[in-house]
Amino acid sequence: MSKKITLPAEIELVEFEALSQIEQKVLEKAKLVSENSYSPYSNFQVGAAVALESGKILQSSNQENVSYPVGVCAERLVLGYAGANFPTEFPTIIGVVAKRKGEESWASVSPCGMCLQGINEVEMRFGKIMTILILRSDGQVFRAKGVKNLLPLKMDDLKS
Ligand code: THU
Repeated sequence: MSKKITLPAEIELVEFEALSQIEQKVLEKAKLVSENSYSPYSNFQVGAAVALESGKILQSSNQENVSYPVGVCAERLVLGYAGANFPTEFPTIIGVVAKRKGEESWASVSPCGMCLQGINEVEMRFGKIMTILILRSDGQVFRAKGVKNLLPLKMDDLKS
C-alpha cells in the first residue's frame, strides 16, 4: 500500500518596492557584496546578507577553491559569520542575489540544498523562522517565511 502525501510550500512573489525597508536593505547589501565574490571557476557571483534582530546587517559572497568542494556558498559564509560573532542574535532575514560575471542583469538563484540545511540549523537553534528573500532576474523577489517552504523534507528529527 502507498499513500500520496503533499507537503505545503508557500512562497510569495513580491515587487522589490513592496518589500519592507529592512528587506530592501538586505538585498542591496547582498548586491554590493556579490562584487567581492571569488569565483574564478564558476564565474557565478553570489551575494548573501542577513539582518540580525538588532537591525545590523552582515554580508558575504561565495568564495571558491581550485579543489572545488572546498569552496563555500555566500549563504553559509554569512550565517557562519553571524553565528561566530553574534551568537545570541537571530538572523531574521537572509537575502540572496547572483550574477554571471560580465553580465549586466541579475540571475535568479535559489539557495542550494546545503545552504537550506544551514538555514534550518539556525532556525532550530533559535526556535524561530527566517524570512528568505531570493532576487529573480525580472527584479521581483521570492519571499519565503521559514526554510520548510524551500526544503520541506529537511534533515531533521522527523518524529514519525
Ligand atoms: N553558490 C552560492 O554561493 N550560493 C548558492 O545558493 C548557490 C551556489 C555558489 C557556489 C559556487 O561558488 C557558485 O555559486 C556556483 O555554483
